[in-house]
Amino acid sequence: MFTLGIETSCDETAAAVLRDDKVLSSIVSSQIDIHKKYGGVVPELASREHLKNLMPIIRESLASALVPLSDIGLVAVTYAPGLIGALLVGVSAAKAIAYAQGIPFIGVHHGEGHILAAHIAYPDIGYPYIALLVSGGHTALYHVIGLGNYRLLGQTRDDAAGEAYDKVGKLLGLEYPGGPAIDRLAQQGNPETITFPRAKGEGYDFSFSGLKTAVRNHIALFKSRDSGFDPVIRISDVAASFQAAVVDMLAEKTMQAMKGRGVNTLVVAGGVAANGGLRARMREECGRRGARLYIPRMGLCIDNAAMVALAGYLHYQRGDSSPLDLNPRASTPL
Ligand code: KG4
Ligand code: ZN
Repeated sequence: MFTLGIETSCDETAAAVLRDDKVLSSIVSSQIDIHKKYGGVVPELASREHLKNLMPIIRESLASALVPLSDIGLVAVTYAPGLIGALLVGVSAAKAIAYAQGIPFIGVHHGEGHILAAHIAYPDIGYPYIALLVSGGHTALYHVIGLGNYRLLGQTRDDAAGEAYDKVGKLLGLEYPGGPAIDRLAQQGNPETITFPRAKGEGYDFSFSGLKTAVRNHIALFKSRDSGFDPVIRISDVAASFQAAVVDMLAEKTMQAMKGRGVNTLVVAGGVAANGGLRARMREECGRRGARLYIPRMGLCIDNAAMVALAGYLHYQRGDSSPLDLNPRASTPL
């Protein structure tokens, strides 16, 4: 069976085609260049760009998979969470295609898509596992018992990890999105230069707003008594010290969750899973504990439609589908 996946929840317009659980094509068109001059995603601009680009991207994904639309047997689309106008574009297109072709339609939770992206790269991952979902909109730990059976163990009380990266990027004068830029700078900096606070939080919950404020205060202090240090070195030291704090907080709670649940398999998912520092630290921690670690390759960590298509396909296989009156939701739990 061929599945067409569609993703328009934020600032990536994406479409993918799967044959069963294998990815035949995955096309992602990023809107970053449009939003970066505003320092973040402008929702109305995002919707308009999706509207303009979605059909060409769908056509490109079908052409690149060498699969005609008439062969598609299922349409899967991100229906929540995300920017409501942006979601509406993808959901409306998916419904129209499903209705016109007379094929089933399924709405996918974006967070579930991110987690299941790991199954594309590693189809033999066994349940249960702990999933750390870290993106621009999410930071949460789940006990994944099986497909569709996710127990939320903890989440951020304020900013998502990616959001903290983007806000600190702005403070450092970096282009949006700050995450990849800070990751690059951090490699040149010394993580021990500044000891930023690590929030302990309740249980498995995270908090990043105190760290963000500490970075802001540090930069203000530095600007007020700048004494001719090389600014590139300085920024890279701040970036490395900030990243070390984020990675410490994420790693500590994740390892506690694995221990607490007696689970020896970890999946790290979402845009921040592309982070070099986080990947290295998780490899080290899991190596030390003899735990299995699955982190999808970078292209599957950031927003894409292959993960949406796979989540839709796996659910459809066990009998799930969505009615054509399914509405997108700006926020809804997994
Ligand atoms: O999953 P994603 O593409 O979109 C959401 O669902 O939010 O994640 C985007 C987030 C942004 O905040 C971006 O700064 C962050 O992921 N990100 C990174 C890296 N690459 C993307 N954060 C840290 N290091 C990276 N290498
Ligand atoms: Zn995402």
